[in-house]
Amino acid sequence: MTNICVVGTGYVGLVTGTCLAEMGHTVWCVDINEDKINRLNRGETPIYEAGLDELLHRNQGVKRLFFSNQLSVGLAQAEVVFLAINTPSSESGDADLSYLSAAVDTIVTHCDTHVGALRFLVIKSTVPVGTGAKIQQRLLPYGISVISNPEFLREGQAVQDALYPNRIVVGVNHVDAEKMMRRLYHGYVCRGVPLVVTTVPTSELIKYAANSFLATKISFINEMAMLCEAVGADVLDVAHAIGLDQRIGPHFLSPGPGFGGSCFPKDIQALQYTAKEKGVDLHVLQAVNQVNRRQREWVIRKVTSVVPRPCTIAVLGLAFKAGTDDMRDAPALTILPALLKLGYSIRAYDPVAMEMAKGFLGHDITYCEGVTATLIGSDVALILTEWDEFVTYSMADIKQHLTQPMVIDCRNILNRQLASDLGLTIIGIGRGI
Ligand code: UGA
Repeated sequence: MTNICVVGTGYVGLVTGTCLAEMGHTVWCVDINEDKINRLNRGETPIYEAGLDELLHRNQGVKRLFFSNQLSVGLAQAEVVFLAINTPSSESGDADLSYLSAAVDTIVTHCDTHVGALRFLVIKSTVPVGTGAKIQQRLLPYGISVISNPEFLREGQAVQDALYPNRIVVGVNHVDAEKMMRRLYHGYVCRGVPLVVTTVPTSELIKYAANSFLATKISFINEMAMLCEAVGADVLDVAHAIGLDQRIGPHFLSPGPGFGGSCFPKDIQALQYTAKEKGVDLHVLQAVNQVNRRQREWVIRKVTSVVPRPCTIAVLGLAFKAGTDDMRDAPALTILPALLKLGYSIRAYDPVAMEMAKGFLGHDITYCEGVTATLIGSDVALILTEWDEFVTYSMADIKQHLTQPMVIDCRNILNRQLASDLGLTIIGIGRGI
């Protein structure tokens, strides 16, 4: 079994470290945020991620998973260090690598003063093509080999994705690095998980290409949704039927208020930046972004076309998708301020993102505890996030609580036939029939 240090305890680092421990490795997770480390050492999980709590406690309990705010402690026995540090967008659109660079500096300083077992540095963070090569230059004097091993974890399903990945991608520049990664992921390969071994820059690009392609599927179906409304077609049937073609596949064809989150918007921007630097125009991605922006405007137009002013709107769901409290680039951040500006009042509720949302959206919104409290005192409802709680909520109660029985369902989660039987109007996305 391998001794591993994971630097960064965001959702990628924490889930990666915990799952590596679950595979039997000894893992030290390190973060400069002392408060976070203290909480983890007290057995508290600082992020909301389904299944993480249990896995974390089990591995802490059997002494395979440890936390420290001292890199030197994490690196003391480590043969491999994973970097799982955030790489947000900088002002120019390029990925901001300052946090990652600072971590590499600390590792270099550690290597200058300690003779340890460290031989491999694995980059989990999403980094522009060429980053691995630059870090390799810095680490050559220490005999440390740099490896790219991008993550494909969805927030909210990160544990599931980490334990049962579709594939593992590894970019190496040395045969020993490949051997070590094969050893590390042996348990996965035995279960039949494909391990793609390639060069470091190719692996770096695979990550961006995957996210860009997924975002392209979403913008494509969102554009089809708009066309469906114009021609009287139903986008759900279109998505279902095209998805049955194995060359297309059924996933990521749900229309909605546009993609958000900490990954797609930032990664597309960063890839465009890289391409521009190399003199390559990425026309498809430019269109993907435009459609995504237009999608949010379309939702605002939809509301203004059916809801008179002044009116109170019950907004159900604030997080950028269900299963997370993440508000980064959430459609709500564009749509809600625009609706307030247009003269609507807003009552809002999200099952887990309320506290986060308050920080992002401020106090011009009335935050409510639960769906019922949000609906009572509202005229119409607007669903922005596809939480199960909204799917199962009684439509008869929705009708009873609203003064005007209408829901603008931006995730197409409510059954329109049932609603219509109850006298509740549902306005979906792309359902022009
Ligand atoms: C995404 C990728 O799915 C992960 O594979 C990747 O590892 C991760 O980014 C990352 O780079 O770290 P995530 O941002 O957590 O994961 O969320 P997704 O489930 O991919 O959803 C992204 C956005 O697309 C959300 O706003 C979601 O509501 C939207 N979406 C997704 C749709 O509008 N329609 C769909 O059919 C699917």
